[in-house]
Amino acid sequence: MVTLNSKSKVAVFISGRGSNLKALIKNSKLKRSKYKISLVLSNKSNAKGLDFAKKNKIKNYFIEKKLSNFENRALKLIKINKIKIICLAGFMRILSPNFIKKAAIPIINIHPSLLPKLKGLNTHERAIKAKYKFSGCTVHYVNEKLDSGKIIIQKRVRVFKSDNPKSLAKKILKLEHKAYAEALQKII
Ligand code: GRF
Repeated sequence: MVTLNSKSKVAVFISGRGSNLKALIKNSKLKRSKYKISLVLSNKSNAKGLDFAKKNKIKNYFIEKKLSNFENRALKLIKINKIKIICLAGFMRILSPNFIKKAAIPIINIHPSLLPKLKGLNTHERAIKAKYKFSGCTVHYVNEKLDSGKIIIQKRVRVFKSDNPKSLAKKILKLEHKAYAEALQKII
């Protein structure tokens, strides 16, 4: 729960482009926002998302790729910075059960499909191939199993015959940017 004047401190883990991070930062600046992005960690040195963190003067770190090193350093930074929630946003590693346990705070993820459909990668190609009428995005809690934790929010779009993986990805990404901030507001 949030107390007056204190926004919950959120860490975002990224590996690349960082458009969801950018949307989260933008939303965090709204007066009604219950959270603040206080830490950004990337397992890729060239992740574009790191630039958004720098631009917004948010503490940001590239931590070397080996998972155990990443997790150990991340656990320390989470403690030091009093982080209350971790958001995975295009973070392309699967966190170990040990990390999830030791972090002892909610970890949430955004996935570009209507879970439990289409867990894993290449969701848009698979949605089109399977001729789904709808696809979308899901924000969910992270547990030991891939893309399987409790669902917080889903948003759906129609998949048209004229859609291709690229057009579908574009439509869904727009929804992701809304869904992630809404999900955070909902759970805080
Ligand atoms: C998003 O489509 C997200 O759902 C998936 O990875 C992509 C990350 O995009 N997990 P970005 O780095 O936030 O732009």
